[in-house]
Amino acid sequence: MMDLRYLLLIILALEILCVANGDNLVFQVERRKTTLSGIKHHDHHRRGRFLSSVDFNLGGNGLPTRTGLYFTKLGLGSPKKDYYVQVDTGSDILWVNCVECSRCPTKSQIGMDLTLYDPKGSHTSELISCDHEFCSSTYDGPIPGCKAETPCPYSITYGDGSATTGYYVRDYLTFDRINGNLHTAPQNSSIIFGCGAVQSGTLGASSEEALDGIIGFGQENSSVLSQLAASRKVKKIFSHCLDNIRGGGIFAIGELVEPKVRTTPLVPNMAHYNVVLKNIEVDGDVLQLPSDIFDSGNGKGTVIDSGTTLAYLPVIVYDQLIPKIFARQPELKLARIEEQFKCFPYAGNVDGGFPVVKLHFEGSLSLTVYPHDYLFQYKVAGVRCIGWQKSVTQTKDGKDMTLLGDLVLSNKLVLYDLENMAIGWTEYNCSSSIKVKDATTGIVHTVGAHNISSASTFLIGRILSFFLLLIAMLNCFYN
Ligand SMILES: *[C@@H]1O[C@H](CO)[C@@H](O)[C@H](O)[C@H]1NC(C)=O
Ligand SMILES: *[C@@H]1O[C@H](CO)[C@@H](O)[C@H](O)[C@H]1NC(C)=O
Ligand SMILES: *[C@@H]1O[C@H](CO)[C@@H](O)[C@H](O)[C@H]1NC(C)=O
Repeated sequence: MMDLRYLLLIILALEILCVANGDNLVFQVERRKTTLSGIKHHDHHRRGRFLSSVDFNLGGNGLPTRTGLYFTKLGLGSPKKDYYVQVDTGSDILWVNCVECSRCPTKSQIGMDLTLYDPKGSHTSELISCDHEFCSSTYDGPIPGCKAETPCPYSITYGDGSATTGYYVRDYLTFDRINGNLHTAPQNSSIIFGCGAVQSGTLGASSEEALDGIIGFGQENSSVLSQLAASRKVKKIFSHCLDNIRGGGIFAIGELVEPKVRTTPLVPNMAHYNVVLKNIEVDGDVLQLPSDIFDSGNGKGTVIDSGTTLAYLPVIVYDQLIPKIFARQPELKLARIEEQFKCFPYAGNVDGGFPVVKLHFEGSLSLTVYPHDYLFQYKVAGVRCIGWQKSVTQTKDGKDMTLLGDLVLSNKLVLYDLENMAIGWTEYNCSSSIKVKDATTGIVHTVGAHNISSASTFLIGRILSFFLLLIAMLNCFYN
């Protein structure tokens, strides 16, 4: 049906094109920014016009020393097979590993059984060719040298340098439609997603945290959310509550009724969910920062991204914040662990020993980050590491980017209201439940928390070996 070598040639050509155009985006989550119109017309298999609320079963946790990611289980194809995909608000497509993939992971040490999607194994699978409208809108125009029956390629490089390359297919996505209190029923929709052919970095075969793929909840028309909205299946409103204490949490599409959430405007026309951060307060003192440090014009601003584990601040901000955090603890000594973390032994309750950090956003919305969130426990009791990091990514005009990941988003209900271009949050117990309104009937339903178990002997093994490493490092440090 398709020649993989030809596909790779196209991909290579496209990548060269992108680089030549200087289209190397801020934050590099996606190599090319895309537009896409009229998915609606192409959803020939549209069934019904009722707007659903959708419940995604979550698993994982955002702890850098545990799985470091949140994932959900989706059904694809007919007959349906289950896939575990990372949930990421910083990218725009769904893709899963496919058969014939080179360097695709086949087992995960997170504890899930991985499944490769096989287009030939699903009788509803269709190849999206490069002359399909989805494809040309993804690439902002026709693909040079495109011949019918040549697959439409995709290629994404994520912020950590990991990459996935493959081609688009269309098939049925089965999800859980909320139809009662803590009750769902399966519903399906035909959607276009990526079939992964080549993976690298943390997405590759040797990765410890490999899953079947990634579902991007970005704003672009290519995201599952946009495709479901274009076929009138859902409204573009979703919320998540990521539980880093017990793992899992809540992830639902639908109008949020409870809890009530205050919001801040989303910066329009941005590739990601950007908001305007005004200032940072530590222990009641506002940091004295250059006024344009979090400026939101021209690709600047603060990115909210559930697919990132930690929180990254401009160097100037970081250098002021850290001394303030440790002001009450002058005797503490920091040691580097695993190159990337600055840690220290601390047996007490960190919430008593360290200040809260408050981020203030446009629209009088603030986000309180508690010491137990930003000083994460390093695998063993009695050792804490700083979650705040210096920004590693620069915007187009050379400014350090502010990127807020699970470190600050966990244990909060975060609402993304794309119908009103706003985003907001509130302190919340992610093991409890929320209420969403069914847009068709107006009936309010309760949606509960889930935790797809990811327990495995691997994690225990890893904790033990890190424990040994840690002891060795601390011994080094103190002697
Ligand atoms: C996305 O789709 C909408 C509705 O189909 C369309 O109006 C809009 O122009 C599209 N946006 C882009 C960037 O293609
Ligand atoms: C999609 O849902 C419809 C209605 O519930 C069902 O008849 C059909 O078999 C489903 N299709 C797939 C591919 O799951
Ligand atoms: C959070 O909610 C769960 C489920 O309702 C409950 O068991 C737990 O006690 C709550 N935790 C807190 C800290 O309130």
